[in-house]
Amino acid sequence: MPQKIVAGNWKMNTSLEEATQLAQSLKDNQTGQEPAKLVVCPPFVWIRTIAEILQGSGISIGAQNCASTASGAFTGEISATMLKNAGVEYVILGHSERRAMFGDSNAVILEKCKQAIVSDLKVILCCGETLAERKAGELETVLTGQLTSVFKNIDQLSASNLVIAYEPVWAIGTGLTATPEQAESAHGFIRNLINSLLGETVGNSISLLYGGSCNASNASSLFSRNNIDGGLIGGASLKSDDFLKIGNAW
Ligand code: PGA
Repeated sequence: MPQKIVAGNWKMNTSLEEATQLAQSLKDNQTGQEPAKLVVCPPFVWIRTIAEILQGSGISIGAQNCASTASGAFTGEISATMLKNAGVEYVILGHSERRAMFGDSNAVILEKCKQAIVSDLKVILCCGETLAERKAGELETVLTGQLTSVFKNIDQLSASNLVIAYEPVWAIGTGLTATPEQAESAHGFIRNLINSLLGETVGNSISLLYGGSCNASNASSLFSRNNIDGGLIGGASLKSDDFLKIGNAW
């Protein structure tokens, strides 16, 4: 069975004070009995502070990006090794906002994945189609391209350290959540794809998260589906109560 995971992507939100309050509230109000592994992904600059607050809580820290190179003259970049060093366990790669606004192509995302893997970080690899692609019937082609470019180029052992987040671009931050049927249909396709690329033992062990306007009200109807093992949560992860409800939505 794939691990259940609920990860909060804080994006470029929170002041230091808001971030520390949110982390403290998560720590104080979690039971430790949540069915899902909880992960929070704060902005880079808050990571150390949040890691200290959450120490011993069982809530893991993720980052929202990492560099595609190991070290050197890359002004403004943060390497996977630095993240590991700072207490990070997960890194979100291939988020549609990075693909659309920061030039993260499939080739760049592969290099970032390799950096994360050698630095012993787990990757939350995002994939998903735009509305235009969905309307043009290109959903499966898009997912195949985004996932094959990574999974064809890393070994099986590394692949088992990846988590996939299916995030239809039209559902992110819009309130237009995919229906459980739409999400499960995409997840079923992804499961078959990774099973064919990696074999069923590895493929069936990889967690498939849904992301895109997932919230405390709709999470349980999504998570009850066969191939939906949790969520990557944006807006609703900024409220401690909502995030913990989502972490308990099974
Ligand atoms: P949202 O964002 O939950 O605010 O739609 C999800 C994401 O971008 O990961």
